[in-house]
Amino acid sequence: MRTQVAIIGGGPAGLLLSQLLHQQGIDSVLLERQSRAYVLARIRAGVIETGAVELLREAGVGERMDREGLVHEGIYLATSNRGFRIDFKQLTGGTVMVYGQTELTFDLYQARDAMGGTMFHEVDQVRIHDADTDKPRVSFRHEGRDLSIDCDFVAGCDGFHGVSRKSIPDSVLREFERVYPFGWLGVLSKTPPVSDELIYASHERGFALCSMRNPNLSRYYLQVPLEHTVEQWSDDDFWQELRRRIPHDAAESLVSGISIEKSIAPLRSFVAEPMRWGRLFLCGDAAHIVPPTGAKGLNLAASDVYYLWRALCRHYEEGDDQGIETYSATALSRIWKAERFSWSMTRLLHRFPDQSSFDLRMQQAELEYLETSVAAQTSLAENYIGLPY
Ligand code: APR
Ligand code: PHB
Repeated sequence: MRTQVAIIGGGPAGLLLSQLLHQQGIDSVLLERQSRAYVLARIRAGVIETGAVELLREAGVGERMDREGLVHEGIYLATSNRGFRIDFKQLTGGTVMVYGQTELTFDLYQARDAMGGTMFHEVDQVRIHDADTDKPRVSFRHEGRDLSIDCDFVAGCDGFHGVSRKSIPDSVLREFERVYPFGWLGVLSKTPPVSDELIYASHERGFALCSMRNPNLSRYYLQVPLEHTVEQWSDDDFWQELRRRIPHDAAESLVSGISIEKSIAPLRSFVAEPMRWGRLFLCGDAAHIVPPTGAKGLNLAASDVYYLWRALCRHYEEGDDQGIETYSATALSRIWKAERFSWSMTRLLHRFPDQSSFDLRMQQAELEYLETSVAAQTSLAENYIGLPY
């Protein structure tokens, strides 16, 4: 089998890249370890930056997002049960789109099917060969058969646990990581959102986040100790704790309900450099992870895809490899700024086990500075809506 770009991973990064390349007449084959149903059942983030919204429209998958997505012009930050608003629109002119990654992935699959995209699901034993030559190859097993793809380039869109990053020699790869001493317990419920915009609450008992998917589907999170398990948290316990941590007026109006999804996710900051080795390019979670506090995971996958898509178009359409040569540095520049923002939001809003009384005063002072300074709010707003591509 032969293709121009072999794409490993059928999450947002892989699907979006294959769609954009196909529109430009560049052939790709996508390999996904899981079934399509498994990928579509994932509950992930829900906030899309302006740049990613525009890229999704460019890819022809913006129609349902524009129809059903919620345009948000700000967020609330809360401390000591009292909230204040960061008005993105007034401060930067920008907004974000609230639209579930689950829906987005469905739209991407619809678009791939409509264009007759080549995708293999439930593959295993994916291996990348000769990435450091001009004839890379990807081998894999599918339905009991050993298959191989000769290609020009390999896009490693296979997430944090994928094979692509591990295919870069240890002598070349550098990894940077911070693991946080807590997790996020998330609940999805068929209840009306407690607020018209997201509430990020800092509380002495821990962080809480009130989010949503649509007017009848809410998403809530609580910071919990790493050792906690989902089984320890009944729905009633979750709602009771959430009410303790969010502003009193929100707590009083909160509509609770049965959790239709409940899970605990660890928090990590991670970056792998470089994001290119020969003709292998890393995209999305394969190269970096952010704590969800800044809602950057999906959005960084989108900007990586944008840079790689433009680079491959320049290669095939103009014979110009400038984009390919600069892909890693360009993507990492934006990634590190988003890592900084996500880390700073996490440090600001969470309680850390080893926090000193001085650290607590620093958090309180920073929140008070945010509440009273246009400059501080503008900085947060421009990072939250997404720095330019
Ligand atoms: N072979 C083929 N596919 C693989 C392999 C492999 N060896 N390993 C992993 N995969 C698949 C996973 O099953 C998954 O569907 O790669 C895909 C990677 O998708 P994501 O983990 O969603 O990563 P990405 O596409 O970069 O999107 C990042 O999605 O998961 C969220 O939090 C993440 O919001 C961020 C965004
Ligand atoms: C979500 O809706 O799942 C969500 C929103 C904002 C975040 C993290 C998660 O920062």
